Amino acid sequence: MERDLLIQEVLRLKAERQAVILAHSYQLPEVQEVADFVGDSLGLAREAQRTEAKVIVFAGVHFMAETAAILNPEKTVLLPDLEAGCSLADSIRPEDVLAWKKDHPEGIVVAYVNTKAEVKALADVCVTSANAVEVVARLPKDRPIFFVPDMFLGAHVARVTGRKLDLFPGECHVHAGIREEHLKALLEKHPGAEFMIHPECGCGSSCLFLKPDAKMLSTEGMVRYAKKAEAKEFVVATEVGILHRLSKEAPGKTFIPVKPDAICEYMKRITLEKVYLSLKEMRHVIRVPEEVAKKARRALEAMVAVG
Ligand code: 13P
Ligand code: SF4
Repeated sequence: MERDLLIQEVLRLKAERQAVILAHSYQLPEVQEVADFVGDSLGLAREAQRTEAKVIVFAGVHFMAETAAILNPEKTVLLPDLEAGCSLADSIRPEDVLAWKKDHPEGIVVAYVNTKAEVKALADVCVTSANAVEVVARLPKDRPIFFVPDMFLGAHVARVTGRKLDLFPGECHVHAGIREEHLKALLEKHPGAEFMIHPECGCGSSCLFLKPDAKMLSTEGMVRYAKKAEAKEFVVATEVGILHRLSKEAPGKTFIPVKPDAICEYMKRITLEKVYLSLKEMRHVIRVPEEVAKKARRALEAMVAVG
């Protein structure tokens, strides 16, 4: 089907199904353009909780659709491609959390939302990159804390809050690939640019050493910052899908990807055609068993309540 017709059909089916399309900022531009809401993990979780639509088409990856399903047990959540996974969410198993809990019966488990529902169900609270610092800073000071699964985000949170965190050695293959040498090269080429860095990046603390005024931001934080900052040129260290939103929402400014091949193949599995098929055939419904969802919901609601 040709593109304009596909867009028309998506919009028609969306109305017919009383559906809403929620898209992550790393989605293909064509998918972002048909979405009702485009945002980061936190914004999407909040929007999924707020929407009155009967059906949520989740243009993102599996753990995000699961989060929406956990927060909305009465709604139908669709993921247009079941292969849209996440290397970070795959890096940790429930057994890893249980082993730590056994050794730390008084401990607190903080789970990044980039985890499967079974891992969230074992956590006390969830976080996203947008609120991890705030959530961790509020935790009791006299109990051990296990931060899972992203070690780079965990190290960033430990540095900013001054809290001691046990870190799980997980990483996102896209962000872990963004390293000190990439930043160094861009710093030499664009000495006047502002640097916006996602805390999942593998450059970790070395980027702050190279560029002490670099901003560590979630994807939404980058859009917000770029809109209000006076600078005209920004170096962006995250998945390149964010550039579509940045150029659209902060026109007249220049955004330079620190690594142009930082592409999440899982996010890119969702195409306009798959969104159309998802609405047409009501596929693929994401369901989380209620005994898991009930526990995971507690940790997610504890997160959504902050800020
Ligand atoms: P945020 O959208 O929360 O910044 O997370 C980035 C990410 O990697 C999501 O998969
Ligand atoms: Fe997962 Fe990384 Fe892709 Fe985000 S960018 S969905 S963390 S693999």
